[in-house]
Amino acid sequence: MTKLSVRHLLGIKNLNENDIHTILETATQFKEVINRPIKKVPSLRDITIANVFFENSTRTRLSFELAEKRLSADVVNFSASGSSVKKGETLLDTVNNILAMKVDMIVMRHSSPGAPHYLSSRIPANVVNAGDGTHEHPTQALLDAFSMQEKLGDLTGKKIAIIGDITHSRVALSNIFCLQKLGAEVMVCGPSTLIPKHLGELGVKIGHNVKEALQWCDVANVLRIQLERQQIKYFPSLREYSLYFGINKAMLDDLNKEIVLMHPGPINRGVELTSDAADSKHSIILNQVENGVAVRMAVLYLLAQQ
Ligand code: CP
Repeated sequence: MTKLSVRHLLGIKNLNENDIHTILETATQFKEVINRPIKKVPSLRDITIANVFFENSTRTRLSFELAEKRLSADVVNFSASGSSVKKGETLLDTVNNILAMKVDMIVMRHSSPGAPHYLSSRIPANVVNAGDGTHEHPTQALLDAFSMQEKLGDLTGKKIAIIGDITHSRVALSNIFCLQKLGAEVMVCGPSTLIPKHLGELGVKIGHNVKEALQWCDVANVLRIQLERQQIKYFPSLREYSLYFGINKAMLDDLNKEIVLMHPGPINRGVELTSDAADSKHSIILNQVENGVAVRMAVLYLLAQQ
């Protein structure tokens, strides 16, 4: 297997195309491993990894922990709630104390954009960004690309629409960087208040009509309305958002073409997606979750070789 050009996974922006292909190819091998009766390999037997989560998570946190255990790493989990962060300990002191217990790698989720970058220049361990505020969520983009490739093959020339709350999403930026590096065309679609003005400079199409976006794309990656990050009102009501930007199964069936429906989770059922769409034959939402373990195994394995 080839080596990555980076020592940390801070964002997709820092990866080159070769890195992305290496991770996705390695993930294919690990997906075969996790579908065996014995789902474990000894690859990281001598490595200790700390999952340091300063923000809530279900999928990413469990997926990293399972990936680490499937690779035979030793694992410790840290949550800010219930820790000495509540007594005023800094991020750097917290992580340095964890590293003093002979930890080799830090997987971190933090609400501040750039927190993993700050850490990576100050500690000797590898750092993996598990989501930094509204900035990047690199392993989500990698598992999304892996899941798209499983359905569609090579993504060169494929059309991907990212629909929903782009402004508050870390998934959007990582997806844009990843998909463009893999040769796909990207559109973002949502209310103009939820699409940052600078996004056009990244070479993505911008749309405000969901039906047109669905007609255009091969894959609709639908994002959650992140009410917890919204300090002001970006649209009049959830009901109105759902009316203009929500997707239901009838809209997908009426397209008369194959379309792949994705969502990074958690879903606001009845807001960005109705249940009949989320659970329809178009949806690969649970495949994304399954693939997350294999992709994270690949990331951890490759970083440990650096
Ligand atoms: N997709 C994702 O990051 O989900 P969690 O917030 O549950 O980790």
